[in-house]
Amino acid sequence: MKSLFTKIMRDFEGYSIGKTLGYIRDPGIISFAGGLPSNDIFPLDIVQNSATKSLKDDWAKSLQYSDIPGEVELIEAIRDYLKKDDIHIQPENIMITTSGQHGIDLVGRLFLEPQDTIVIDLPTFGGALASFEMQDADYIAKDIEEDGSDVKGMEAEIDKSLKKGKKPKFIYVVPDFQNPSGITMSLEKRVALLAMSKDYGIPLVEDSPYRELRYKGAHLPSIYSLDKNQGNVIGVYTFSKILCPGLRVGFNIGPPEVVEKFIYIKGANILNTPKLNQDICTAFLREYDIEAHFQKARKYYTEKLNFFLEALEENFPQGTGVEWTNPEGGLFLWITVPESINTLELFYLALEEKVAFVPGEVCYPQDFRRYNTMRVNFSYPTRDEIKEGVKRLKKVIQKYRVKKKNN
Ligand SMILES: Cc1ncc(COP(=O)(O)O)c(C=O)c1O
Repeated sequence: MKSLFTKIMRDFEGYSIGKTLGYIRDPGIISFAGGLPSNDIFPLDIVQNSATKSLKDDWAKSLQYSDIPGEVELIEAIRDYLKKDDIHIQPENIMITTSGQHGIDLVGRLFLEPQDTIVIDLPTFGGALASFEMQDADYIAKDIEEDGSDVKGMEAEIDKSLKKGKKPKFIYVVPDFQNPSGITMSLEKRVALLAMSKDYGIPLVEDSPYRELRYKGAHLPSIYSLDKNQGNVIGVYTFSKILCPGLRVGFNIGPPEVVEKFIYIKGANILNTPKLNQDICTAFLREYDIEAHFQKARKYYTEKLNFFLEALEENFPQGTGVEWTNPEGGLFLWITVPESINTLELFYLALEEKVAFVPGEVCYPQDFRRYNTMRVNFSYPTRDEIKEGVKRLKKVIQKYRVKKKNN
């Protein structure tokens, strides 16, 4: 049968982070690997009440197929919600997606032919890479800097590519508390990246799952808002991290000709997003005190982040060669270990010690792999798990070093 698969699918080995998570079945393992928001802050009350209301009001409608672009009530609620972020859009600028991953996939399907180029940061979100790999993408990829994308470096590479007659199809970035690095793009870089996108006529895809989860530092405008809805930016959003991921609801925003095509693609791949789940999201935006909810989430995650940072400082004092980012928000820390350590090898050793993380290499495209980084999630594990898990991590690194020495 395999010989009949498409070439891309014959080579495609799946979503690497997902595969990594597949190894973590043992409940005794302390996992820092998933990208999970904490169950402790899911607003169960609004989910329960709005689901009941939706079924009570018109259960048949709630359980039927629904409109491909999404429920009008949710679209309107999102338009109002985005105004607070200085984004002012019309209904033709938005489509409801079945989560952020779907939103990213739509972008790839719309723009990419095999071996088309995308401009990305290194590292970047592994889920986006998996999706783009299905379109057989090539990359212009530059190391992310402390204040976000290496815009000048990207520009130089784009120039080289243009000289060879190849124009990249889009730029993909996660400006706020990037998954996996936790890095936030500065205002200067946002402005410069948008200018680059405009100058070269290359659309910018701004993936924004974490914008509400800022724990420190000044709020920065989204690149979409800086563009003033002029059509250079496509925004990818999801309710996964601000409400809960189980509903699988998100939205893409962008120029009407792009949204129109998203609707056609969605109609051909997943058809629609469950109305019941959309109704829950509408109620969340319209009826819930979302500001109080976000405050609660920020406070909760800030404590977890600080606790994780303290555990790292305690276990990896200066001189151990282990370094980490200090994110202003989001759910992840990015840890760099000495180059002599391969974190995929370390991952298997870590499983023996019952602790897990995401080996950083899955956040790089195949040709750009780095092997001495890891992503850890601080939002989901409990304080006790963080304390014990970081201790185990230290032990694993020591064990790895001894093993290497003896080999
Ligand atoms: C940067 C980024 N984009 C998109 C997604 C996918 O979101 P969803 O769970 O809504 O599919 C994630 C999830 O972790 C993410 O970190």
